[in-house]
Amino acid sequence: MMLPLLPLALLVLSVAGASVEPRAKPTKISLSSRKVDRGTIRRRALNPSEVPLADYFNGTDLQWFGEIQIGTPPQPFTVVFDTGSSSLEVTSTSCGTVCNRQKKFDPSKSSTFVDGGRTSTITFGTGVGVDPVIGNNWRLSLRSATDTVSVGGIAAKGLSFFLITDQTPTFSPDPFDGIQGIAASGSSLMRALINQGLPSLFSLFLTPNSVGNAEMTLGGIDNSKFQGDLVFAPMPAGTGATWQLTSSNIFVNGQSSTRLARSRTFIFDSGTSNIVLPQADAVAIYALISPDIKPNNAEPGTFGIACNRISTLPAEISFTFTDSNRRPFNLTIPSSELSVGPFRSNPSLCQTLINADQFTLIGASLLKHYYSVWDIGNQRMGFAPTGF
Ligand SMILES: *[C@@H]1O[C@H](CO)[C@@H](O)[C@H](O)[C@H]1NC(C)=O
Ligand SMILES: *[C@@H]1O[C@H](CO)[C@@H](O)[C@H](O)[C@H]1NC(C)=O
Repeated sequence: MMLPLLPLALLVLSVAGASVEPRAKPTKISLSSRKVDRGTIRRRALNPSEVPLADYFNGTDLQWFGEIQIGTPPQPFTVVFDTGSSSLEVTSTSCGTVCNRQKKFDPSKSSTFVDGGRTSTITFGTGVGVDPVIGNNWRLSLRSATDTVSVGGIAAKGLSFFLITDQTPTFSPDPFDGIQGIAASGSSLMRALINQGLPSLFSLFLTPNSVGNAEMTLGGIDNSKFQGDLVFAPMPAGTGATWQLTSSNIFVNGQSSTRLARSRTFIFDSGTSNIVLPQADAVAIYALISPDIKPNNAEPGTFGIACNRISTLPAEISFTFTDSNRRPFNLTIPSSELSVGPFRSNPSLCQTLINADQFTLIGASLLKHYYSVWDIGNQRMGFAPTGF
């Protein structure tokens, strides 16, 4: 979803406040010695656990969310599991009418709640859905806290998280109550689960609405959900919190160009719907699809074309990466993802899947077509086609 600014990411754009919390703690968890290969997951103290995900289908088919519980007794909430950020934020009773569609965590009803007292804001670099980010239009006001947090039936006690005390109106229509970051360095939640013995990886099965049964597997890989073998790619050294892989080329309908045939590092963000690229890269891709795909100046960073033309345009986009054996492999977005639906301001104009911004980022329009494994312990990502 979003990117909060670094150091972490959903692409979090920035985190400001009296103190920036929990990820800031030096975290030495010896994860690297844990090998978690397909089929050879060792039995540990915690078995893998499945979390069903719902599709936020509202014109677009590119955002999923699932349940967590906070407090004692547990209060249930739905959150986006966001590989682009690293902390948990959830709407609270301190938030006014702007949060009325969300379920609000009530600290007074939890016997294990501890107020942290620090306030901050987090500004995301990509929002919910396919709308562009303009200024600070995706921002949360936060107050630090700790409490018991459970996901997939596993509880983590004394977990640092944030109460949302205010939010920009862009968040108001959301059918989910918060964001659970699951960054590559392990969010506080994943670190707590790993310390209890959960294998240090998770997997995402992000299906189209027509297929359903999307799910996240914590601590494991569900081999029944994909075809063929997983291809693993190592992350660049020193990648820190950010899930990212370096790509050597982009092909559009089998063709590349000077601009596209260069090395770039993509952030992989389960919380962002669209693909995001610098303007010149977006223009170079669209040039190989249709000269009639143009920037929509009414919504800066977006592009569009007449809706009555879009369904017939071939627009297969392949990104070339390098696997653990140094062999190239492609991850491909089918033509069916080209349209992300009509612009609200101009319903005869359909928005296309790449937004131009400062990031280089792969979001849900690609992740929806692959089973993906996010291996914290081995600092690598795995992919296999789902066939959808
Ligand atoms: C669908 O999206 C529109 C535009 O963002 C919003 O106004 C509406 O509330 C959404 N509906 C649902 C059910 O989320
Ligand atoms: C990636 O896709 C392009 C375009 O279809 C193709 O030319 C290239 O051979 C593919 N690379 C691999 C490793 O499959």
